[in-house]
Amino acid sequence: GRSPMLLHISWFTECMAAREPVKIEPRHLLEDALETLSKEASFCGSDGRSLAFIRAASVLRSLPSTLTTIEELNRLPGFGEHSKRVVQEILEDGFSAEVERVTQKEKYQTMKLFTNIFGVGMKTANRWYQEGLRSLGDLRNSQKLKLSKQQEAGLQHYEDLNMPVSRAEADLIAKMVEEVAHSFLPGTIITLAGGFRRGKLSGHDVDILITHAQEGREEGLLSKVIGQLQSQGLILYHDLKRNSYHDAFSPDSKSTSNMDHFERSFSIFRLKVASHIGDIGARDHSPESSKDWKAVRVDLVVTPISQYPYALLGWTGSKHFERELRRFSCNEKKMVLNSHALYDTVEQKILAATCEEDIFLYLGLEYMPPSDRNA
Ligand code: CTP
Ligand code: MN
Ligand code: MN
Ligand code: MN
Repeated sequence: GRSPMLLHISWFTECMAAREPVKIEPRHLLEDALETLSKEASFCGSDGRSLAFIRAASVLRSLPSTLTTIEELNRLPGFGEHSKRVVQEILEDGFSAEVERVTQKEKYQTMKLFTNIFGVGMKTANRWYQEGLRSLGDLRNSQKLKLSKQQEAGLQHYEDLNMPVSRAEADLIAKMVEEVAHSFLPGTIITLAGGFRRGKLSGHDVDILITHAQEGREEGLLSKVIGQLQSQGLILYHDLKRNSYHDAFSPDSKSTSNMDHFERSFSIFRLKVASHIGDIGARDHSPESSKDWKAVRVDLVVTPISQYPYALLGWTGSKHFERELRRFSCNEKKMVLNSHALYDTVEQKILAATCEEDIFLYLGLEYMPPSDRNA
């Protein structure tokens, strides 16, 4: 049979040809429902079930217009029985009893709350839940809880970090980073990746790639940039990781970890924003309302220019698109794709790329612009 990636792409192309005006509301209802069930499955440790719901939601997202009948659904690839049942329920009744039940569950609500804390993964959230902790207040007041520096920062800035980051804020941060980088190393290339590169108007963080046309010049730059921003009081948290590509990584390793090995910092910036005094918020006299800054999550990733196209492809996302693309290259092309390289396991060699187009060509796929990668 054809691979899901190919199915998805040909399906997408057919849909684009017959494109009609899009009704947004019901579509989101269906996607949100499937995403809720995906989260719930992952909270229960069922990664396979979680992925099945993500796939179904992704298929819905690629449709040119809202799904209205169950017959249309039956013609779609990538829909399991469970996903079909839920969508059918919503199409018929306007809601799904199962999804309603899940969102009411104490465990679901608590896991969602805890995993939304920067630095808290499924394991930690689950442990805290088992220990009887239920709220951010419980975490903040607990005497015996051992938080990492990252989790402490995540908890401290929880409200800000769970507010969407706007495109304007992302551009501002990219410009700040660029200015400082240029002061140390003229010619540094700064690229806004992640959801914003895919054309999203808001995101949960800002993903920035840093490179330089001369291989090797980028080394050591990040600590200088962070240091400078820190001395200006613009960094609330940072955690510099050095490049570990050469000592911890071989391209054909069977490691299942998707983590890359670039020099990087997953940080929190202190972004100046227009003070709320004078607008609607001024009626509220809490000290919060006069706060003239906002904590913003920023991922800074340094890549040598020789790996830049792969880093760009890997860091543009979406996560689901990357997962499908990597699975496709492995299963259909016997090539291992990650954010550093493409490794041909038959020829046993790394394939060099100068741009994203090269990579799609190696994979035998038509180039997909970032805005088509929102799967
Ligand atoms: N990524 C990665 N390694 C990480 C974290 C993220 O390679 N340790 C990649 C993800 O696979 C994704 C991209 O970086 O392709 C952006 O990830 P993320 O910021 O989590 O998601 P976005 O798509 O940018 O969405 P959001 O607006 O929520 O930030
Ligand atoms: Mn992002
Ligand atoms: Mn995200
Ligand atoms: Mn990110």
